[in-house]
Amino acid sequence: MKITIDGHTIEVDAGTTVLEAARMIGGPSVPPTMCYYSKLKDCGGKCRCCLVEISKGSERDPRPMPKLQPSCVTAVQDGMEVKSATSERALEARKAVTEFLLINHPLDCPVCDQAGECDLQNLAYGNENFKSRFIEQKRTFEPEDIGPYIQLHMNRCVLCYRCVKLADQLTPERVHGVVGRGDHAQISTYIERAIDNDFSGNVIDVCPVGALTDKTFRFKSRVWFNKPFNAHRHCTKCSGKVTLWMFGDTVQRVTARKDQWHEVEDFICNECRFEHKNAEDWVIEGPRKFEKPSVINVNNYTEPIHKVKINTDDLVLEGDVNKTRRK
Ligand code: SF4
Ligand code: FES
Repeated sequence: MKITIDGHTIEVDAGTTVLEAARMIGGPSVPPTMCYYSKLKDCGGKCRCCLVEISKGSERDPRPMPKLQPSCVTAVQDGMEVKSATSERALEARKAVTEFLLINHPLDCPVCDQAGECDLQNLAYGNENFKSRFIEQKRTFEPEDIGPYIQLHMNRCVLCYRCVKLADQLTPERVHGVVGRGDHAQISTYIERAIDNDFSGNVIDVCPVGALTDKTFRFKSRVWFNKPFNAHRHCTKCSGKVTLWMFGDTVQRVTARKDQWHEVEDFICNECRFEHKNAEDWVIEGPRKFEKPSVINVNNYTEPIHKVKINTDDLVLEGDVNKTRRK
């Protein structure tokens, strides 16, 4: 099937979504995502961050689609033409969605452990001239303890359902979900049961915001002060391939490795994530590249350093500025 996105045409298999096709093309045409997660089944269609304009439905029915479509759940049709980064309407709508998500999301980045690697923070910073018009009180929830390893901050949740899908698909017994409807909808554990199975820690990695964070890393350090390293160990439960976030020789936290879309490559078990915080427990492979542009890319030490050429000449050293200008 042929699809054209922002003037780039590619062939894709039937069943490919517009978002997957855009990711194949890459660059600015790739819409942002908050709820879609390629490693989880039936994920997406919740946040509306990935809206695109479909200017031609297909070869057979070339009419444009009147409404913007969520690219993560829209299947490619043969001959489809899509505007993503080139659509004013789509860009405006994505800004509006970000504003909508921030209606209830607290602006507590200075004290949030997710700051620096938060998809919503990146989205908000990516929207130039962003302004919130919301003056009403934000929605708040009573703190809830969901176990020894995972901290739930319901006030920050954007109800993307990723953690629910993950628990459904990766753990044998799901004990949490979205409870309530509308403004009262919240992530909660049924009958206050803790999430205590071997893979529950992965909800931390899939959460796009700071609603689910690592209790063993809480308030220890800002993420940008830590250097990520690829490391592995022999593990009988998971692949044992992780990213170690180190401050000097100290392992501050362990996460799964994430790809260029900020999505986990291999889910890891709780033992690797929470119980091996000594560098000796791991075979360290080397520094990890930051795949996705984000706040923590600033001062990225894995990027090549280009030599700075300073344009000086004898005239400047002699102090003859006018002669230099004439050159
Ligand atoms: S807790 Fe995080 S992953 Fe779960 S629904 Fe809320 S924002 Fe999404
Ligand atoms: S990423 Fe497509 S609707 Fe959320």
